[in-house]
Amino acid sequence: MAQVWTIQKLLDWMVSRFTEEKIDSPRLSAELILSSVLQMERIQLYMYFDKEVQRPQLDKLHSLVKRCLQNEPVQYLTGRCEFYSLSLKVSPACLIPRPETELLVERAIEFLRGRKGRQYVCDLCTGCGCIAVAVAKNFPDAKVIATDICDKALSVAAENVAKYNLSGQIELLQGDLFKPIISQLDVKEFDLIVCNPPYVSGAEYEKLDAKVKNYEPSLALDGGVDGLDVYRRIAAEAEGHLKKDGAIMLEIGYLQGQQVKKLLEDSGCFGPIKIEKDFSNNDRIITTIRV
Ligand SMILES: C[S@@+](CC[C@H](N)C(=O)[O-])C[C@H]1O[C@@H](n2cnc3c(N)ncnc32)[C@H](O)[C@@H]1O
Repeated sequence: MAQVWTIQKLLDWMVSRFTEEKIDSPRLSAELILSSVLQMERIQLYMYFDKEVQRPQLDKLHSLVKRCLQNEPVQYLTGRCEFYSLSLKVSPACLIPRPETELLVERAIEFLRGRKGRQYVCDLCTGCGCIAVAVAKNFPDAKVIATDICDKALSVAAENVAKYNLSGQIELLQGDLFKPIISQLDVKEFDLIVCNPPYVSGAEYEKLDAKVKNYEPSLALDGGVDGLDVYRRIAAEAEGHLKKDGAIMLEIGYLQGQQVKKLLEDSGCFGPIKIEKDFSNNDRIITTIRV
């Protein structure tokens, strides 16, 4: 007689396989994959523990479990990622948003709430649009222009913008950093520029965890030989796009604080520069105001 696979049995099997193969967070990974295949919320798995899962879904699950055992990130398997309490679409064309980046969003929203009227925000290197969407959703007076060089990543961002009904607040432009922004047509000067650029150096890239290196796009990670290519350009180009008293907020690699600070100082147009640590006590965010 064919084996009956219930939700509970499948979860137990997946957790034990993921544990054996040392997959990160075996229980959570199992729940995310199974709930995605069954198109249920995770909590519903527990409400329907004894429900039998049918063959087409078992086949789909089997193929995802296989990919998970090869270390493919769960977010690419399910096509979803949680960020700043939002459920966002992701694809292998974009970086999986990291919890550290939520700190950048937090600071951006705090800054915007301290100002009056409509606020113009530029999100460079938007990827799946996580920063733009989180800022626009939490600050309705923000008008965000978000750019990315990768059109496939921007298609994902467009789906996230549509999902949260933010097309009136967010404009997505394909191109190299500030280049697709035509001042006369779009926004002349921004109140806030945010960016989580590719910042991995050549030496670090070689040592990246296989899960990151083999699956996440190099375009989202590779910041040039010393990892600072995009910061150099932002430091040189931001002045032309930022209001006086506008802010710039950048995510940085944990060893890059002093170098990025110097780049911003050398540009000669910013006030005091603050480096903030993340919840792991690593330097993570650099912020300053144009003077
Ligand atoms: C580290 S990811 C950040 C994605 C997203 N903002 C986040 O925080 O998760 C960097 C993004 O920069 C984009 N990118 C790389 N070089 C770029 C450039 N010169 N101009 C615009 N975007 C670029 C990549 O396609 C990628 O989506």
